[in-house]
Amino acid sequence: MDARPGPYTAEQATRGEATFQRRCLRCHETSRFSTADFFRTWTRAPLSQLYGFIATSMPRGAPGSLSRPEYADVVAYILALNGVPPGETDLPATTAALTRIRVGAPSP
Ligand code: HEC
Repeated sequence: MDARPGPYTAEQATRGEATFQRRCLRCHETSRFSTADFFRTWTRAPLSQLYGFIATSMPRGAPGSLSRPEYADVVAYILALNGVPPGETDLPATTAALTRIRVGAPSP
């Protein structure tokens, strides 16, 4: 299943924005997660990589303190920040499903 474009929904990104403001913003500016470098780094791999990193290491000091759907919402919000268009289905909250989803240009 290659859900590109639109691997998340606009509603999900809106939820993710609220979660980001509550749990991430005190340490991170959103602009930090929408640079070309950031996007290139994380979209070379399936989304399970970004999700896995955030879910196992963030928020710093309390990793794993969000629910799996909340982490997926935050990843959806980050995709929205990077101009990935929304679609019809929520980004899944399991690593297995996320390993099948990539965004961005396929590597040459
Ligand atoms: C208590 C402070 C703190 C909080 C809260 C926090 N982070 Fe972080 N985050 C860090 C630090 C420190 C690093 C590693 C050093 C760096 O890259 O700035 C980091 C790194 C990251 C990176 C890797 C950055 C890159 O350029 O690849 C991501 C992605 C990230 N955080 C996402 C999140 C998300 C999403 C949340 C909310 C769920 C969050 N962080 C909450 C402190 C925090």
